[in-house]
Amino acid sequence: MTDTILVVYATRYGSTREAAEKIGEVLRENGLQAEVHPARNIHSLEPYRAAVLSAPVFVGSLQKDIKRFLAQYKEALAGMPVAFFALGPLDASAEMQGAVDQLDKELAKFPWLKLVSKAMFGGKYDPAVLRFPDSFLAKPKFSPLYKRPASDTRDWEAIKDWALSLAETLQ
Ligand SMILES: Cc1cc2nc3c(=O)[nH]c(=O)nc-3n(C[C@H](O)[C@H](O)[C@H](O)COP(=O)(O)O)c2cc1C
Repeated sequence: MTDTILVVYATRYGSTREAAEKIGEVLRENGLQAEVHPARNIHSLEPYRAAVLSAPVFVGSLQKDIKRFLAQYKEALAGMPVAFFALGPLDASAEMQGAVDQLDKELAKFPWLKLVSKAMFGGKYDPAVLRFPDSFLAKPKFSPLYKRPASDTRDWEAIKDWALSLAETLQ
C-alpha cells in the first residue's frame, strides 16, 4: 500500500503552483511523503493514498485542468481523502466571500466529491504577464481588472497553517 500524498495543481500564471509547492514542503516537514505535480502530468492515482487538489478561479470558474482531473479520476478520488484549495481574490479582504461562493458553486458540480478540508486564499495578479484572453478581458473600462495594479495577496502564513492542519488530518 502506497504512503504518498499527491499535491496536484492547475495554474495559468504560476501562483497556484508556488502555493502547492509550499503545501508539499510543509507536509514533508511534518513527516509525510508528498509529491507535487501539475494536473496535466498525472496519468494514474494508484501511487497515492490521498490528494490535495488546487486551482485558481478565473471569471468564476476553476481552471479547466483541475475540472478535467476531477472528471477523469472520479472513482479513485471518491475512495481516498481529498482536500481542495483555490486561489483567487486579489483584494483578499473585500473579495474573499465572493470567491468562496464561486468555489462552492464550482465544487457543487462534483457532488460525489467529499472533501476532508477546503480553503480559499488570496491570489497574485500581474497585468504585465496576462495572455489572451485575459489581457483582452482586462481592457474595457467596466472590467474589474481595468487599470488594476499588480498585487500578491497570498497569505503564506495562512497557507502554511492550512498545510499543517492537513498534515494532522492525513497522518
Ligand atoms: C482574467 C482574470 C480573471 C479572474 N477572475 C477571478 C474570479 O472570478 N474570482 C477570483 O477570485 N479571482 C479571479 N482572478 C484572480 C486569479 O484567480 C489569481 O490571479 C490567481 O492567483 C491566478 O492563479 P495562477 O497564477 O495559478 O494562474 C482572475 C484573474 C484574471 C487574470
